[in-house]
Amino acid sequence: MAKDEVVVFDTTLRDGEQSPGASMNKEEKVKIATLLEQMKVDVIEAGFAIASRGDFDAVRAVAGVVDNSIVASLARASKGDIETAAEAIKPARRGRIHTFIATSPLHMKFKLKMDQAEVYDAINESVKFARKFVDDVEWSAEDGTRTDLDFLCRCVEAAINSGATTINIPDTVGYTIPREYHDRIAHLMNNVPNIDKAILSVHCHNDLGLAVANSLAAVEAGARQVECTVNGLGERAGNAAMEEIVMALNTRNDFLPYKTSVDTKMITQASNLVSTITGFAVQPNKAIVGANAFAHESGIHQDGVLKHSATYEIMSPESVGLKKSNLVMGKHSGRHAFSKKLKELGYDFGQNAMNDAFQRFKDLADKKKEIYDEDIRALVDEEIRVNDRIKFISLQVVCGSKVSKQTAEIELSFDGKVLCKNASGDGPVDATFNAIKDLTFDTQHLDLYQVNAVTKGTDAQAEVTVKLKEGGKTVMGQGADTDTLVASAKAYINALNKLLVKREKKAPEAVAV
Ligand code: KIV
Ligand code: ZN
Repeated sequence: MAKDEVVVFDTTLRDGEQSPGASMNKEEKVKIATLLEQMKVDVIEAGFAIASRGDFDAVRAVAGVVDNSIVASLARASKGDIETAAEAIKPARRGRIHTFIATSPLHMKFKLKMDQAEVYDAINESVKFARKFVDDVEWSAEDGTRTDLDFLCRCVEAAINSGATTINIPDTVGYTIPREYHDRIAHLMNNVPNIDKAILSVHCHNDLGLAVANSLAAVEAGARQVECTVNGLGERAGNAAMEEIVMALNTRNDFLPYKTSVDTKMITQASNLVSTITGFAVQPNKAIVGANAFAHESGIHQDGVLKHSATYEIMSPESVGLKKSNLVMGKHSGRHAFSKKLKELGYDFGQNAMNDAFQRFKDLADKKKEIYDEDIRALVDEEIRVNDRIKFISLQVVCGSKVSKQTAEIELSFDGKVLCKNASGDGPVDATFNAIKDLTFDTQHLDLYQVNAVTKGTDAQAEVTVKLKEGGKTVMGQGADTDTLVASAKAYINALNKLLVKREKKAPEAVAV
């Protein structure tokens, strides 16, 4: 590996999925992994195989379709975890077991109830055990930024001696700051005798909004793997955003002379796909992938950009795959134009999904004169959210100021069985949700209901987001339609599908060998 190469380790499918509200089924994970591989991401962490049968199956499915990228599964320092991870990544051409244990005083004492000597032994045992299955083993010192530095050096040395080829120092709680993290990584580079036998990796959380800055500081100190997620998805405030790290290295190569293999032109497509699948909208002012990242509102800025784009643009929209398109579609647009547009927006559908999407495009064109890129994205979202157990079929609502009782009749299919129900409620949305609950389940609580217009105009599609809570689990659902109530029903059903996936997961506790 060249000295200036930085390995990109994407953990959207694992740490990203740990975001409260995010969940992906196997097929959705395969879709994202396929795109990550096309983008030339070096390592794809596909999941935490022991967490649930669904996680195991998803890691296995990803391992079966990915050829060039390394496929990793997370495992605690326990034999059961490591065996399960090894089994899940078996189909991979290049598989990695990523095992971890906490090394900070707080985590050792209160969470693991282990002392330094016990953790040290567990590191040796777990890494050696993982090496029985694969040559590529990554070891992580959970809460590494709050770990005693001398102890951390000893742990890293032991993990390398036991066979770890990548050593990761996570800032698990997003506590560190760039100079401190830089110095910690530099200290490891200078004081661990066998450090040249492994790649040093960083994994930053964004609790103080410093995940990307910390990751870049670590690269300057010698780290050569960066762990990150698309759109910065992840536990609590998220992980370091892949698109920001990659574009910072590209744009400021004068100061940061390092390179990644990521195809930056696929960044926008990856962002859209992850946002669609998870139901996590990207904030408009998000760096690189936010809707306003390349928009210029002020007259002075617009004038400057028209005269020379570099006046107010430090990178081109094209470099992140943002295509400026003025081609508005409508009812006269044919299949060829529609399929060309889908490709331009980064969607690659098989014949059946394409036929389905085209039919829905035609239906939309009957209701809406001008169809913009945003409309098409919202329209094809359902093609991406594959394999849902609950599917929307139709909705009929009786409402208005003259009606004494608002009612909704919903038709849906649940595991292939068509069901229909009429229910009333405090308003048409409540009636719709009540009817859906009657046909499915009612153990969840509605935490958020939000409506946005996809484009301008009264004929715009409504995009509805709902957040549901059940026990400690949160899920988000989205749905779009020119009819706000249909969009609401679709969003609620989407969230229920996510809940079904999430219910399978048990939260793994801290364990060691
Ligand atoms: O944040 C963290 O410490 C992690 C590890 C399991 C790598 O995600
Ligand atoms: Zn993490």
